Amino acid sequence: MEDQAVELSLRPRYLAEYIGQDQIKENLTIYIEAAKMRKEALDHVLLYGPPGLGKTTLANIIANELGVSLRTTSGPAIERPGDLAALLTNLQEGDVLFIDEIHRLHRTVEEVLYPAMEDFALDIMIGKGPSARSVRLDLPPFTLIGATTRAGLLSAPLRDRFGVVSRLEFYSVDQLSYIVSRGADILGIETVGDAADEIALRSRGTPRIANRLLKRVRDYAQVRGDGIITSAIAKESLQLLQVDPMGLDVIDHKMLHAMINNFRGGPVGLDTIAATIGEESQTIEDVYEPYLMQIGFLQRTPRGRIVAPAAYTHLGLPIPNTNG
Ligand code: ADE
Repeated sequence: MEDQAVELSLRPRYLAEYIGQDQIKENLTIYIEAAKMRKEALDHVLLYGPPGLGKTTLANIIANELGVSLRTTSGPAIERPGDLAALLTNLQEGDVLFIDEIHRLHRTVEEVLYPAMEDFALDIMIGKGPSARSVRLDLPPFTLIGATTRAGLLSAPLRDRFGVVSRLEFYSVDQLSYIVSRGADILGIETVGDAADEIALRSRGTPRIANRLLKRVRDYAQVRGDGIITSAIAKESLQLLQVDPMGLDVIDHKMLHAMINNFRGGPVGLDTIAATIGEESQTIEDVYEPYLMQIGFLQRTPRGRIVAPAAYTHLGLPIPNTNG
């Protein structure tokens, strides 16, 4: 409970407190101010990118900046068109409806969303058979914010109805270090020397991971140290957590070693990798691969995934001769 409250407070509530994603921030600032000047609802926003980069945080910030209420749901939670109709008819003018994992909306639900997004209207069928007719209900103007790790899985008609489409990028070490320092301040714990950088370096470009590691390092500092996070304390605790100096965890290591030892470094298909290490294909694709590709450890080819030379070097293994 307390951990959750802290989790929420680590999240910035206004754009001015939000670190990184500068382009998105600048554009949103303009669109939000324009919508407020015109007293209109902000255009619908699609946020996409790997997990943990701040899509939900941004949705909350947008609602705060607009001074409206936010209703949160997710694609799989909306089972029937009626569930969506209930959400939409409960919105006040200008409110934000946030749908996480929007790529997992059911087709039948998606079809209700089109006229709602485009014309702020709800088409409901009344009756069955020959006497069935469709009635159109007006909705208050609202802003839909959709979030997904997989923009490619969105149907074209849905994607086309978002006026603002933003891709979140991985954060730099400097930005993450700033986020760690800010988090430490909020948690009331001191970091000294390069400690914030040590955590930032192992956070895979992802604020959610940075904040999680910060809390585990704080635990370690309080139990094994004197409560202050020094670089040595950060290094020791992260080593104990099995997070390596590039931020790779046990699963990254399992995956790379399995590809190297069982499949000569690839190419090997995603489902084969998943079965070999006993993980879900989707988790590997959404959570593990994006960062491994970003740092140049993994390549995706039409024939499957390949371990890149940089990964061999990092693992202390000889780079195989690809000519032979
Ligand atoms: N905490 C998590 N994400 C953040 C961000 N982008 N800026 C500031 N604090 C954060």
